[in-house]
Amino acid sequence: MTKPVKNNLFGLSGSLKDQLAQKMLEKRLKKVTEAKMQSGDVLRTRKSLQSNSKIPDEFCRFDMFPGYQQIKILEAGGEQLGVPSPFFKSHEGVATDTTVIAGKEYINFASYNYLDLCGHPEVSKAAEDAIKKYGTSASASRPVAGERPIQRELEIELAKVYDVDDAIVFVSGHATNVTTIGYLFGPKDLILHDSLIHNSVVQGVQLSGATRLTFPHNDWQALDEILFQQRRNYERVLICVEGIYSMDGDYPDLKRFIEIKQRHKAFLMVDEAHSLGVMGERGHGLKEYAGVDGHEVDLWMGTLSKTLAGCGGYIAGETALIDHLKFSAPGFLYSVGISPPLAAASIAALNILNREPDRVSSLKARGNQFLELAKDKGLNVGSSAGLSVIPVITGSSAMAGRLANACFERGINVQPIFYPAVQEGMARLRFFICSSHTEEQIETTINVLVEEMHKLK
Ligand SMILES: Cc1ncc(COP(=O)(O)O)c(C=O)c1O
Repeated sequence: MTKPVKNNLFGLSGSLKDQLAQKMLEKRLKKVTEAKMQSGDVLRTRKSLQSNSKIPDEFCRFDMFPGYQQIKILEAGGEQLGVPSPFFKSHEGVATDTTVIAGKEYINFASYNYLDLCGHPEVSKAAEDAIKKYGTSASASRPVAGERPIQRELEIELAKVYDVDDAIVFVSGHATNVTTIGYLFGPKDLILHDSLIHNSVVQGVQLSGATRLTFPHNDWQALDEILFQQRRNYERVLICVEGIYSMDGDYPDLKRFIEIKQRHKAFLMVDEAHSLGVMGERGHGLKEYAGVDGHEVDLWMGTLSKTLAGCGGYIAGETALIDHLKFSAPGFLYSVGISPPLAAASIAALNILNREPDRVSSLKARGNQFLELAKDKGLNVGSSAGLSVIPVITGSSAMAGRLANACFERGINVQPIFYPAVQEGMARLRFFICSSHTEEQIETTINVLVEEMHKLK
């Protein structure tokens, strides 16, 4: 699975070699990134070219796309540094606290199966029953071709979690953010989001044509200040935050954000991808944890692919919002309905979540154990709250890649995160905790991390 690597960069050893290679890598990446940003200008200056023979190769060859060249540079950098690619590993069964890759069992921290519900017999049985009854696909868009009762049932159950009027389910979590934000807002509007917000929100804002401003991570005072200065220049204003931040594992002070959005007459959207099933006694997310009323947030967004053991995304909120999206959001109207087995799986997962809050407390106990042990050993866990997501920040991408591979060699599967998912210099290993992790697995993992980091320094 791993490629052979060249391990002789200038005959240098250890971290000096890493630093040089890292610098070279950054330089080359910067060059293609700049080329990417300038490609629009190049097009404008050359738009007068009349003849086809004068169209430069970069405009008609896939291998000359700057994005592709970035990937190739990173691959080559990995080889020079002796770091085999950690991507696209093939799992041979359900990934829970453990997983099997190439015939070997690993302690697993690379899946969002937070409450161990993907693979739960009740969830699998619900999906099997739905296949028997409805087949595997909804085969067309729901407004056009009609509903399956389980699609609607899932929406009603999700609305209950947030104690709001209704919910709408889309076929992808990412597409939920893109189409909802992209459709509801426009060029006269302003969208403010946390600097660490997920890519799907950024894509949605870009599609909308609204002005996009960021505020520093979790800094509600900075947000307030921007709104004091900017609110009057726009029609609608949307503020986007996450329940638990997917790279850092911390969360916003929701009550502050609600107070600010009310004062400035803005809409507030909370992406609960990593907090549903995790925060609050019953796992009902940031809403439950912060003790707010469901209607105090305008758009509750979440995904079905994590705690809910399916695939898809949802928006929960007031009737006027949900009906509007159902009749007009392109990602709903012009896209197939959620497949029956996935809807059935997520309903079953939600039932178990509601019935078995012990799963939520187990996850929290293991997350807390991981966080405290890691801190004791001097690992950099950033601002993580020690719930579903805990990063161990290594700094350089080379170190993150090497450490992930060293952990893998010792039976631990964890994904490294590099630029551009996080800024360069903030590369990390990202640990997803699940309710079935044992105390022993966490202890073993922290010990391995400390030993391997020590060896790599
Ligand atoms: C915060 C956040 N929002 C949205 C998504 C997209 O969800 P999905 O992977 O279910 O499409 C993710 C994915 O991990 C996420 O982390």
